[in-house]
Amino acid sequence: MTNRAYNFNPGPSALPLEVLQQAAEEMTDFEGTGMSVMELSHRSENYERLNDNTQQLFRKLYGIPVGYKILFLQGGASTQFAMVPMNLLPSGKTAAYVDSGSWAVKAYKEAKLFGEAFAAVSGKEGGYQEMPDLSKLELPENTAYLHLTSNETIEGIQYQDFPDTGSIPLIGDMSSDIMSRPVDVSRFALIYGGAQKNLGPSGVTVVIAKEELVAESPKELATMLRYDTHVKNNSLYNTPPSFSVYVMNLVLKWIDAKGGLAAIERMNREKTDLIYKVIDESDGFYRGHALPGHRSRMNITFRLHEENVEKTFLKAAEEAGFIGLKGHRSVGGCRASTYNAVPYDNCAALAQFMSDFRRASR
Ligand SMILES: Cc1ncc(COP(=O)(O)O)c(C=O)c1O
Repeated sequence: MTNRAYNFNPGPSALPLEVLQQAAEEMTDFEGTGMSVMELSHRSENYERLNDNTQQLFRKLYGIPVGYKILFLQGGASTQFAMVPMNLLPSGKTAAYVDSGSWAVKAYKEAKLFGEAFAAVSGKEGGYQEMPDLSKLELPENTAYLHLTSNETIEGIQYQDFPDTGSIPLIGDMSSDIMSRPVDVSRFALIYGGAQKNLGPSGVTVVIAKEELVAESPKELATMLRYDTHVKNNSLYNTPPSFSVYVMNLVLKWIDAKGGLAAIERMNREKTDLIYKVIDESDGFYRGHALPGHRSRMNITFRLHEENVEKTFLKAAEEAGFIGLKGHRSVGGCRASTYNAVPYDNCAALAQFMSDFRRASR
């Protein structure tokens, strides 16, 4: 297929071509049912099988230990910003938040609506160019949980590893780097992420949680906002976002066929190295936002040495077919989002374009 865009959108974002083609093929007849997944009852055997198989793929790819539940919810990661404290922050306890950037702040502010929360450590003074150091973190005894954002989508910074928080449950918003590399899930009590970057279309939000943490929610909570509702009903309490779950299933199979998360991580490194190299070797023409060691493999954020040149760059890039390179409206600059399904060749093309643009601007 020749007319696929150079899609660097931050989310929703590129999906694997093979997945889109298979979804197109099965659009009118899924597994011989004579209907698409969208037309299928979520109480049918076919759908239940899809639901279970999708959970199994998560278990296999992440090597999720026994004792964890995998939930497919709605409302986006933004709803998890509320569900986490609603379910897991009782009065008398406090929630610790790692203030690593724009998304962490949103999660933290939401928690404050429901209970006591504090920023345990912050990268704000440093302009969110690096992920806060968690190695020396000391948390009060009444800490309900520690919440971190594994990849700050807007600033383009990413944790390279995760702390052992002992008896304090670690909660991770992995919306923008879920399934992009191997992760020791046992470090986390709960991981959540919207699907629309690495996993599939928008509409489904994945929650991977320790069973004991989500077995019983506070009684006064609304039914849909309780984790225990979805645990007890295998994510089928109400009508699920079935098409999103279906495409996510195909994406997980695609990851598996590529060789799993170690292979995906290697691919992500190789393709993003191409772009970081152009930035590093540009004598300050391009300026990376993230400090080395904190650079994201999912969102490459950079500026140009002059604002008017930056404007020209973004315009020229768009004309050349590179989509989604404008930085988030809150911080400006440029951002190339290079999620799993963004091909190596597209990153090579962008790196070449950036080199050519620099040469032509001299
Ligand atoms: C790290 C992070 N957390 C949360 C969100 C919010 O996700 P949603 O739009 O699914 O609510 C985003 C969206 O880009 C994100 O990047």
